[in-house]
Amino acid sequence: MSANSDELKQQVQDYWNKETCGTWVTDSTKFTKEYFEDIEKDRYEKQPEILEFAEFDKFAGQKLLEVGVGAGTDFVQWVRGGAKAYGIDLTEEAIRHLDYRLELYGLKAEGFKVADCENLPFEDNTFDIVYSWGVIHHTPNTLKALDEIIRVLKPGGKAKIMIYNRKSVLAYLFWVKHALLKGKFNKSVAWALWNHMESIGTKAYTIDEVKEILSQRPVKESNVKAYISYYDKLERFSPIMQFVAKITKVLMGGEKAGWELTFQFTKK
Ligand SMILES: C[S@@+](CC[C@H](N)C(=O)[O-])C[C@H]1O[C@@H](n2cnc3c(N)ncnc32)[C@H](O)[C@@H]1O
Repeated sequence: MSANSDELKQQVQDYWNKETCGTWVTDSTKFTKEYFEDIEKDRYEKQPEILEFAEFDKFAGQKLLEVGVGAGTDFVQWVRGGAKAYGIDLTEEAIRHLDYRLELYGLKAEGFKVADCENLPFEDNTFDIVYSWGVIHHTPNTLKALDEIIRVLKPGGKAKIMIYNRKSVLAYLFWVKHALLKGKFNKSVAWALWNHMESIGTKAYTIDEVKEILSQRPVKESNVKAYISYYDKLERFSPIMQFVAKITKVLMGGEKAGWELTFQFTKK
């Protein structure tokens, strides 16, 4: 890894260590039941598509790895669904959340630890399922992370991954806010996301790019699908902004302009 990439990864780690993803929605005391329940309620109310995409109760008895567990909300659903679940995240803070959460609910995971998705600490051909929601676009070498996921999957094993969609309503409106309205006409959507979306260095891909990336790897692609999310709909904003978002969605071709770009594949 180059010095630049080391430095970038450190910044990504520092960012997510300060505040674990999705925990800003609650004022409840940290690590209490109320705290975790607020986070869980908010997540699946705003993003019910996660339930449809993940299919948490479909993998009982299977060896599953979640890459980038964050506050552990999805991870807990895997354990409840009976999967033999392993989890990793780049930050101590995420792993602490998961530890407290499992303990609080008396749930048992197979293993979880701080680790880097670009160097997964598992043998080749280990998992039946690898799941990752909103993670590998944050790491400097996203394709290395994808190759690691493929490496640790068993032949015939399945990956379920979400990354951000560059040709999406949210990405375009984000560009309007951070580039156009600031007179930075020569800056791209990719620039706006890299510099202003969550941790520094965030990338986003198009549906065609994902298909191309998968076509070069030892996988059978089963489904590449974008979801129009709560974030594309600008639900936290005024009715006028929501109207703008709706028009943008229509102009961009509907559902395929969703922020959440999901893909599933099986390893050959
Ligand atoms: C947007 S959050 C998503 C967390 C969780 N999957 C969710 O949906 O709430 C991004 C997560 O990716 C993790 N992450 C970023 N780079 C990583 C890396 N190289 N290896 C492992 N995890 C990483 C961060 O620590 C953070 O928890």
